[in-house]
Amino acid sequence: MYTLLRQFLFKFPAEDVHHFAMGSFQTAGKIGPVRSLLQHSFTPAQPSLKREMWGLTFRNPVGLGAGFDKNALYLKELDLLGFGFVEIGTVTPRPQPGNEKPRLFRLPQDKALINRMGFNNEGAEATAIRVRKWRDNHASNLIVGGNIGKNKDTPNEEAWKDYESCFKTLRDTVDYFVVNVSSPNTPGLRALQDKDALLGILSRLQDINTGSAQPRPLLLKIAPDLTEGQLDDIISLAAEVKLSGLVATNTTISREGLRSPAAQVAGIGNGGLSGAPIRALSQGVVEYIHRHSSVPIIGSGGIFTGQDAKARLEAGASLVQVWTGFIYEGPAIVKKICDALA
Ligand SMILES: Cc1cc2nc3c(=O)[nH]c(=O)nc-3n(C[C@H](O)[C@H](O)[C@H](O)COP(=O)(O)O)c2cc1C
Repeated sequence: MYTLLRQFLFKFPAEDVHHFAMGSFQTAGKIGPVRSLLQHSFTPAQPSLKREMWGLTFRNPVGLGAGFDKNALYLKELDLLGFGFVEIGTVTPRPQPGNEKPRLFRLPQDKALINRMGFNNEGAEATAIRVRKWRDNHASNLIVGGNIGKNKDTPNEEAWKDYESCFKTLRDTVDYFVVNVSSPNTPGLRALQDKDALLGILSRLQDINTGSAQPRPLLLKIAPDLTEGQLDDIISLAAEVKLSGLVATNTTISREGLRSPAAQVAGIGNGGLSGAPIRALSQGVVEYIHRHSSVPIIGSGGIFTGQDAKARLEAGASLVQVWTGFIYEGPAIVKKICDALA
């Protein structure tokens, strides 16, 4: 049924469909019997899939990657869809509109997306308030992570101030943090993946974190385009600043091996590629990190099926996240993956 619905939805601009679909789901979920039906259809019930990580209990290892619910608007609905965890953001200290539209594109032949959203978000404070309100009104065991970034107009030398500001604003509301320096859509951001730049940001955050009453697990999200030398740097840095984990990976800037017509791909322009074409790349990064380190990994990139999730977990990931797979596979994706894993 979702295949038919997807064919229809794919006739409209991707970003509009995203908000329309989640908005409709939000409305439908307010009707008691519909809500029960959705819960029955989509919520996985496999207690055996529970994971204990960083002192947190994940009801299952399948999460939603950052960028889907940037402003924590849909936690209630995502809870209903059975996700074990949802990573909100990327949030920046101040609200910002992001890049000009259109900025999200589908490549159906590749089961992929290209996006250059540019951290469009309502700002850390508004999002913190929304998460707090959701927590106050819903007894849920959904884990909520906060993915944090810097504003576009903040120079890289001052980026640490933005990460610190987001961290302080969100620390009482989210369960874990992810420092995002790997989005290709904020000019110069990925230069912060350099060891010295990262050390500056992460050690400051850890100083504040470890000095607080309730330290939060702090993770770093990395690009799939790093060389082995850069990965080695990240691995040693993770040990040095005692990171809780790595999220591997974000989207790629590469366009290699796509089936979609070259003219279509070129016409889209810049942005991060996600979905099936990055599956092997992200899997390779997880394997590399796991071979050289014992740092916990959240696997992200091209996970669509139970088989994909199983492979990523076997490669060394402790948890996985979906994003593009959710668009192509539909709302039953968590249940399907959990059924396969169980
Ligand atoms: C439209 C879109 C927006 C995204 N926004 C963010 C973001 O704000 N922060 C971030 O860390 N990752 C962001 N991502 C990356 C995803 O979280 C994920 O790491 C990546 O897409 C690879 O997973 P996938 O192949 O399952 O999509 C975004 C991805 C997409 C498709």
